Amino acid sequence: MAKLHLITYGCQMNEYDSERVAGLLKADDYELTDSEHDADLILLNTCAIREKAEDKVFSKLGELRALKRARPHVMVGVMGCMAQLHKNEILRRAPGVDLVFGSPAIARVGELVARARRERPVLEKHCTFCVVPVTRGWQRSHTPASVLDEIERLVADGCREVTLLGQTVEMYGRDLDPPTDLAALLRAVNDVEGIARIRFTTSNPFNFTSRLIAAIRDLPKVCEYVHLPLQSGSNRVLERMNRGYTRERYLDLIAELREAVPDVALSTDLIVGFPGETDADFEATLETVDRVGYDNVFVFRYSPRPGTPAATMPDQVPLAVKADRNSRVLAVTGRSATTRSARLAGQTVDVLVDGRAKKNGEELCGRTRCNRVVNFEAAAGVAIGDVVAIRITDVLPHSLRGTLAARVEEAVCLSR
Ligand code: SAH
Ligand code: F3S
Repeated sequence: MAKLHLITYGCQMNEYDSERVAGLLKADDYELTDSEHDADLILLNTCAIREKAEDKVFSKLGELRALKRARPHVMVGVMGCMAQLHKNEILRRAPGVDLVFGSPAIARVGELVARARRERPVLEKHCTFCVVPVTRGWQRSHTPASVLDEIERLVADGCREVTLLGQTVEMYGRDLDPPTDLAALLRAVNDVEGIARIRFTTSNPFNFTSRLIAAIRDLPKVCEYVHLPLQSGSNRVLERMNRGYTRERYLDLIAELREAVPDVALSTDLIVGFPGETDADFEATLETVDRVGYDNVFVFRYSPRPGTPAATMPDQVPLAVKADRNSRVLAVTGRSATTRSARLAGQTVDVLVDGRAKKNGEELCGRTRCNRVVNFEAAAGVAIGDVVAIRITDVLPHSLRGTLAARVEEAVCLSR
């Protein structure tokens, strides 16, 4: 159950309205708490009868902003007379406020809270550990026309594979006018003649839509490989990171992806030692990672970045603990990566030839659709930029070896 903390100023009418709100939100699984420190939703029921009463509210909102830095998922709402009179001033002076509504809207409070929660991460999605929004600002999408134009120029230069790149690439296009989405862009790129493969990275699971999953399933050039940063397997930590999803939602997404694209290769990013991460939180990460079975995992020790909320959170984790968790998670993920690549032995897979092999310059190398490096003996008529079918003979720790089985028509996918 989520927790609601109500702060009521002013007259008996406000007391009555607060009781009503508590009753209405009970139906949405909110229970009352006396402490603002364990609340998920804090509502200030305000009074505008005197200026002093208003000042009190603004100073309280300032305090709550500090509280939100430590518990970023907490929502703060302002209702009552001030909300009615000064909505714009409240939003301007108190940026931590998530919703403002007057007394006539009380009957719809459940819907208003749910909508504010849904919309908030889209408007100010800011993961508490991450410096990117601080340094680069909020996302800006290039128009589909300019992306396609650039790809066509690259194709003219001989390029066969394109990676659509963005920190939250799954959110592509929502800021454009008219809005569009990544699934639509993938469809358009899929139609570009000469391109053999399309990848995209990196996606926040929070906004990964079924439309996007369908695009990966249906578009022949889109590779069956998704990088889906989990960061943590503990809901407590995910909430403090402000990631916008739970472990359960993440696992459901993986199940949906695997159902649509059975052989999809998955990789992820994890942060160990996020402030307040306990042994139990870390075990939840290990358990989740083991359950998913990734092809590749990137592990980072939490590093406090100036200007980010997590940097000043209490309970920073000691370096030695981070190092220990780092090696423990690598042991689990190493095992799953080996199991996943061992499955490729004996299979024939599409390889896009991209150069000469690193160790033996006589050989060629390329990548599978799931982005693994494959080395194989050069053969007459096989050139860089070709897609060839390679039968995998050896699975090595960082690469695969194989023999040429056939040349493959452009963008025809045998298997990953
Ligand atoms: N946009 C991507 C992440 C991009 S940053 C996403 O939302 O998932 C790449 C990775 O660096 C992150 O996934 C995270 O695991 C790691 N990272 C980012 N900030 C970090 C920090 N302060 N300390 C440790 N790792 C961090
Ligand atoms: Fe950073 Fe990615 Fe979150 S860029 S703010 S970690 S969505």
